Amino acid sequence: MNISDKDLIDAATAARENAYCRYSGYAVGAAIIDDNGRLHTGCNIENAAYPLGNCAEAAAIAAMVLEGGNRIVRIAVVGGSGGIGPCTPCGGCRQRIHEFANDDTVIITMDDSKDWQQYSIEELLPASFHLP
Ligand code: THU
Repeated sequence: MNISDKDLIDAATAARENAYCRYSGYAVGAAIIDDNGRLHTGCNIENAAYPLGNCAEAAAIAAMVLEGGNRIVRIAVVGGSGGIGPCTPCGGCRQRIHEFANDDTVIITMDDSKDWQQYSIEELLPASFHLP
């Protein structure tokens, strides 16, 4: 299956529709293409006990691992409305993405403006922590 950047962004946008974000009102969707060419999606899921909330990227990575994916080839993250700017992955999610990224992993971010940006993990998380 050949999934274009637009298809990937559309999948993240669709996942965003399911975001459970009653506390922040900030809906995020994420979509991953893995090293097997498979698509995985996730949305943010908040909780009344605020620190228990999960980011969209974490949900998509969990789906990827569950289905046997090993590496993130491309990930799209869609969030941000009303001109506040796109949802670039939070610090924790940069580390989560790093765990499954290669040097050429593409990280796409987009808000409601429909303009999208792309980054490498080195750009988002330089001098990263990792173990051998
Ligand atoms: N959020 C994500 O899903 N991904 C990020 O990278 C940043 C933040 C979620 C967490 C919370 O549910 C809401 O956005 C507001 O912080």
